[in-house]
Amino acid sequence: MHKVLVLHGPNLNLLGQREPAIYGSETLADIDQRLRNKALELSLQVESFQSNSEGELLDALHRGMREGIAGCIFNPGAYTHYSIALRDAVAAVPFPVIEVHLSNIYTREPFRSHSVIAPVAKGQISGFGAVGYELALYALHAQLG
Ligand code: DQA
Repeated sequence: MHKVLVLHGPNLNLLGQREPAIYGSETLADIDQRLRNKALELSLQVESFQSNSEGELLDALHRGMREGIAGCIFNPGAYTHYSIALRDAVAAVPFPVIEVHLSNIYTREPFRSHSVIAPVAKGQISGFGAVGYELALYALHAQLG
């Protein structure tokens, strides 16, 4: 069974309480549970990890490489806009990484319109709320065959 790593970046542990008008009312636990259910239907296994630390997110990508994961769904949070280290890690890993954002980063403050991750990601899903993670899982499933 293919294993998919779901990586949630900084402040996403606050989902449900954090600016619900922008990020919705679902908690991170709700999103992860929804993904686990969807993964079962698709015969995929998901492992979720959240960190507020850039280094821990880097380590999780490196670990995924050693463990031979099949793909990754990654919401890098604010690191999206400036972390060259995470961009380099996404470029380095052999598996496809799909970048996900709950909000539409192109309709918000100008600094959010630039993603340093997007050029090295397999694709990007932005603006569909929690459903975006499920769309990413379908996209990975289609990629993996
Ligand atoms: C976000 C968008 C980022 O700009 C922001 O810093 C986040 C969340 C999103 O999911 O919409 O933390 O990645």
